Amino acid sequence: VVADKGGYRHFMLKEIFEQPAVLSRTLQGRISKTRVMEQAFGADAEKIFDQVKGVQIVACGTSYHAGLVAKYWLESIAGLPCNVEVASEYRYRRVFVSKDTLFITISQSGETADTLAALREAKKSHYLASLVICNAPNSSLVRESDLVFMTQAGPEIGVASTKAFTTQLVALQLLTIALGRRHGLAEQTEADMVGSLASLPDQIETALGLDDTIKHVSEKFADKHHALFLGRGVEYPVAMEGALKLKEISYIHAESYPAGELKHGPLALVDANMPIVAVAPNNDLMEKLKSNLEEVQARGGKLFVFSDQADAFPSSEEVTVIDVQSVPDTIAPMVYTIPLQLLSYHVAIVKGTDVDQPRNLAKSVTVE
Ligand code: G6P
Repeated sequence: VVADKGGYRHFMLKEIFEQPAVLSRTLQGRISKTRVMEQAFGADAEKIFDQVKGVQIVACGTSYHAGLVAKYWLESIAGLPCNVEVASEYRYRRVFVSKDTLFITISQSGETADTLAALREAKKSHYLASLVICNAPNSSLVRESDLVFMTQAGPEIGVASTKAFTTQLVALQLLTIALGRRHGLAEQTEADMVGSLASLPDQIETALGLDDTIKHVSEKFADKHHALFLGRGVEYPVAMEGALKLKEISYIHAESYPAGELKHGPLALVDANMPIVAVAPNNDLMEKLKSNLEEVQARGGKLFVFSDQADAFPSSEEVTVIDVQSVPDTIAPMVYTIPLQLLSYHVAIVKGTDVDQPRNLAKSVTVE
């Protein structure tokens, strides 16, 4: 089948706009009104999940960022220790494996060489079992893992991953709930989280409504060579993914930092030529983030703040606030990812780069 752009200018844009549909497909049959249906992870999932005392996640690129988000969820919601590592590092070091640890790979393609090699390495260690979160049926990772959760993103053509990422986040949140149940996650909390997940396709649709606003904002990046992305807590890996998207397709050097680390280096780089993008939903870290941003402003930095608390960040010449709708904390990482994807897309358009086929990059890295 020849993939077509369905009327969009690029596959990437089409894939960004497909997210409400593919997220709803990924949830389909995996949740009831109030519960996660853990058979979605495979016939043996129940038995294996009963024994899990810790999690090791291994992945590359965007899939690695999904893993980093999951670490926040698994530790704070499921009460389980979680390590996350890029596959190319994991596979070449001696790893300490705690008893009853579940080994998880995350991969859109299921064929990334380092991730596959890491799984093969892990099989020689004493892991409880292996689980893959994958978008490609019949891929090597799917064939070689004990448990499989298929994201239902459909073929992703754009080299920069978009819809695969948000469906991975959904998969990882379902896993967090399934494991959390066994570690004191209240039924009501599960029901609330499942309810929020069910609302996700609509919430993403709403976030996509920011497209025009962001197109406008993107022009301010036209002459920029560097950008800094900031977040705190679970929004830090979201900021990392935002920076990766921008660098992949617009070739602007973008770095991400946990906002609390600003003082320890990056603040030295801040001047009027350095846009600072902040992922700032109203949560228990927002006040802290706000004071980090004030320091940036005091140094003449130009801020682009994505927040549902527009009033907390009054717009000015130096501060552009992109007003995101308020959503429950548990789905904020997915929702805030959308405007960052759109930002990178529109900046790339302004820059005139090859959005779907960025130079030097491949969709699937099957050789080391
Ligand atoms: C390449 C792609 C990225 C992707 C990464 C991992 O770098 O360009 O978009 O995130 O590989 O790929 P995987 O298929 O394992 O998720």
